[in-house]
Amino acid sequence: MVSLRARSFVLAALVALATASPTNLETRTIHERRVAPAPGFIDLGPAPADDQLKLRIALKSTDIVGLEKELMAVSDPSSTRYGQHLTPEQVAEYVKPTADTLSAVTSWLDSNNIASTSISPAGDLLQIQIPVSKANSLLSAEFSLFKHANSNETNIRTLQYSLPASLAPHVAYLHPTTSFTTSILPPNPKLKLLNKVGTKRAVDASCLEEATPACLQELYGIPSAPATQKNNVLGVSAFSRQFAIFEDLQSFLTELRPDIDPTTRFDVLPVDGGANTQLPSNAGLEANLDIQYTVGLATNVPVTFIAVGDRTTDGVFGFVDEVNALIALSPAERPTVLTTSYGFNEFQLTQPVAQGLCNAYLQLTVLGTSILFASGDGGVGGVRANDTCTVFNPTEPAGCPWITTVGATELIEGDGGLHESGVAFSSGGFSNHFATPDYQKQDIDQFIASLDGQYDGQYNASGRGFPDVSALGMNFVVYSDRFSTLVGGTSASSPIFASIISLLNDELIGKGKSPLGFLNPFLYSAAGRAALSDITNGTNPSCGTDGFSATSGWDPITGLGTPNYAKLRQAVGLA
Ligand SMILES: *[C@@H]1O[C@H](CO)[C@@H](O)[C@H](O)[C@H]1NC(C)=O
Ligand SMILES: *[C@@H]1O[C@H](CO)[C@@H](O)[C@H](O)[C@H]1NC(C)=O
Ligand SMILES: *[C@@H]1O[C@H](CO)[C@@H](O)[C@H](O)[C@H]1NC(C)=O
Ligand SMILES: *[C@@H]1O[C@H](CO)[C@@H](O)[C@H](O)[C@H]1NC(C)=O
Repeated sequence: MVSLRARSFVLAALVALATASPTNLETRTIHERRVAPAPGFIDLGPAPADDQLKLRIALKSTDIVGLEKELMAVSDPSSTRYGQHLTPEQVAEYVKPTADTLSAVTSWLDSNNIASTSISPAGDLLQIQIPVSKANSLLSAEFSLFKHANSNETNIRTLQYSLPASLAPHVAYLHPTTSFTTSILPPNPKLKLLNKVGTKRAVDASCLEEATPACLQELYGIPSAPATQKNNVLGVSAFSRQFAIFEDLQSFLTELRPDIDPTTRFDVLPVDGGANTQLPSNAGLEANLDIQYTVGLATNVPVTFIAVGDRTTDGVFGFVDEVNALIALSPAERPTVLTTSYGFNEFQLTQPVAQGLCNAYLQLTVLGTSILFASGDGGVGGVRANDTCTVFNPTEPAGCPWITTVGATELIEGDGGLHESGVAFSSGGFSNHFATPDYQKQDIDQFIASLDGQYDGQYNASGRGFPDVSALGMNFVVYSDRFSTLVGGTSASSPIFASIISLLNDELIGKGKSPLGFLNPFLYSAAGRAALSDITNGTNPSCGTDGFSATSGWDPITGLGTPNYAKLRQAVGLA
């Protein structure tokens, strides 16, 4: 295997010399490199020379830091521009490449006879298609076949690639090259299948044994009165061919929200060839959970199910394609809140590619969309429980500082009655890809000081901490394929928190105010944290450790705490 790889490398180098154009002779610098493939991947040797590679070239933006400053200016409640969300045209001015960058990249492609197409609204992402042999010579790379041992999925990737020295400053990254991905899944695909029952049962008023819309309304003070605003869409992301079934929603509403029209529906926005098949046997438990705890909680808020299909162009599961599709919508159709219960482990992407994904969320949230993500269901071990990790696995995109990550709680019976506690599966920790943002710096410092050296070296003390907030994540009654099932996971927590933000936005828009947009500067402010119930008990064990412990103040299991609708209403100026 080793000698085979060496031979192919020599061949590729010869081809490169034979067809070298003046630019090819320029000094090249290594643009991205990793010493080994991502955990779980095995090198099967050189990729077939004729295989076609679709590569995305991410061009450096004119001024991403400027756009981050704009985001803070419109999202920090103490700012004079609070709530003055930007337009897509304003965003594009920051995100588009400079004329110099564009011409450097296009002349490099032209001189190598490579055609490109723009695949992003601001023109910062180009796509090219070239055979492996040409990619190897153009990029001084060695594209090989890598198999993921558990899933058997194969990736054509290289451990390093180079660019002409004069081009390098203009390019953020080429993808897929050194990132290794497997299919994304809901944080917990089967969720927690606790039992499967027929129909009718007594409704538990406390949320302890069975969580329903009624007990969540009670627990968090969520109003049941119908929302009134039409241009206040709650977006629910769906990937992995997860379909939400109207018939299941109707059964759910009939039994658990008898006060609202059981035929209440949601819209479907297909992206990348996505669909929402209505065959009951195709029901996705995750999709049904996400729809039932948005339509069923954010009463009368228009819900759009964003069905991302398989024809993705971004190389990151369609996550960026989804954002681009939402940016392209009219302001009336664009969700004011987006909830996503899918994610992956951070080690799958390189930092530049993760940064590109995070920049996409930056562009969407600065337009006024609150973006919420489930934190994952593997405690400190990542999206899934993991016994083999020696260092903690942060999840993605949870670590992107421009989204609000939601962890999970459970109800515990103790002295003085029921109270919420961080639940063991709630993923949380510190990103290796993103530094601690200013809005949470004090909280992170305080939490890390409280660890007193525990887990030093197993987590990144200068990383962005997550989750930001939490909500109940256990024992949800969900209708799927004509049965009701009990499920759990941070997959449930994110739709609940998102529904609450949508109801607040409905009231704000009704009063002629802006929707909340990027939430974190508000949530971490004195007013925001006072509107959350601090959860101070619970741990999130994995990687053979007890995990972190919930404490008073922010912690990497339950964040700042769980919502209190009446207090949030007051904190956003509605009361
Ligand atoms: C992967 O391939 C091996 C060997 O062919 C097989 O035993 C295993 O079941 C496959 N795993 C999956 C998830 O398909
Ligand atoms: C568990 O973590 C280790 C080390 O981070 C990693 O190699 C492995 O792929 C992970 N396993 C799963 C199932 O995610
Ligand atoms: C820890 O986080 C910082 C800030 O994001 C980053 O620069 C550094 O590379 C990370 N360390 C590791 C070991 O990943
Ligand atoms: C605290 O959490 C642990 C699980 O981490 C649980 O066993 C215990 O009952 C909880 N105690 C209280 C007082 O909530």
